[in-house]
Amino acid sequence: MEAEAGEREGAVKVEVQAARPYPVWIGRNLLASAGEIIKERKKPCRVAIITDYTTGGLFENRVERSLKRNGFTVTKLSIPPGEGSKNMSQLAEVLEFLAESGLTRSDLIAALGGGVVGDLAGFAAAVYQRGVDYIQLPTTFLAAIDSSVGGKTAVDLGAGKNLAGAFHQPLSVICDCDTFRTLPEKVFADGAAEAVKYGVLAGGELFGQMISGKGGRSGLPEELLPSVVEQCVRIKADIVNRDEFDRGERQLLNLGHTIGHAVERCSGYGITHGHAVAMGMAAIAKAAAQLKGTEEAAQTAEQIIQALRIQNLPTEIPYSPEDIYRASLSDKKKTAAGMQVIVPETVGCCKIRGLSLTEWRNWVGLALGETESAGAAK
Ligand code: GLY
Repeated sequence: MEAEAGEREGAVKVEVQAARPYPVWIGRNLLASAGEIIKERKKPCRVAIITDYTTGGLFENRVERSLKRNGFTVTKLSIPPGEGSKNMSQLAEVLEFLAESGLTRSDLIAALGGGVVGDLAGFAAAVYQRGVDYIQLPTTFLAAIDSSVGGKTAVDLGAGKNLAGAFHQPLSVICDCDTFRTLPEKVFADGAAEAVKYGVLAGGELFGQMISGKGGRSGLPEELLPSVVEQCVRIKADIVNRDEFDRGERQLLNLGHTIGHAVERCSGYGITHGHAVAMGMAAIAKAAAQLKGTEEAAQTAEQIIQALRIQNLPTEIPYSPEDIYRASLSDKKKTAAGMQVIVPETVGCCKIRGLSLTEWRNWVGLALGETESAGAAK
């Protein structure tokens, strides 16, 4: 039964120390307390809930009731679910809706949904009237541990993912882990891929939990979820605290993403983000192992691949090295000098390496098991 006013008992709060610090609340049944939590940061005002048809049907009423009980006025917009909504025309629609709703600079946007809703509504918040407050209410495992925290907002362009966007930190993030119960297996596994990523970055207990395969959805027992989310958010918050604007260390969070984004692009976005990142992590680990040629490097690749398999994630890429290489050239991590690549040295130790495009083409070949040397790398 849905509680009228959610208990915050047992919830944990992780502080993100960005230029404007904010709390990330992690717990169960927190959507029913959204109004109370938001009121701690913002006086009652108009709130525009941006959600998608699926998520809205499941959770919108719960959030709306809590907001109204706490004196907020609510207006709502639902968009079609899926990556296809993360574009400039949908952004324009959201902005027109905010203007028609009479949202002012002292009002609030609430992004209720997964990464697409969070990135799109966050970007709308960054540019509407030159910036309004917003809160993130992630309802997928992936959004809870990655996209809702850290203030990256964006839409995709025809040329690639997340190519137009802004840094705009939320006022707070409310992760209600009960919302993950409604996720289809594959969508849950998308989040597990990002959790494996944090495990590879930090090692320790988190990686042990991801590789242990103790049953439950995608190999993660249900009772572990709030703790896994908390560990991932703490790792991300620590990195964002040191590098809010992604000029250095924050790039570590892109482990598996350069090849992952290329896989998404090659598949016409039919392969979802987490699944593509899983393939990207396995691939880069294989390339690193081959280039290093040590027993330790081979074991690292083996452990990463094993953790991904336990989480029901794919580790083989169904495209040619040349297709992946070409698709990777529109990635944001491409610089004038070449490509920034995150390399797992061991579980718990990843490094950022700058490669020339010729070197990167060679890495892609090794990552995808190319036997002959690459052709004309440009
Ligand atoms: N998703 C990677 C980052 O927030 O930097």
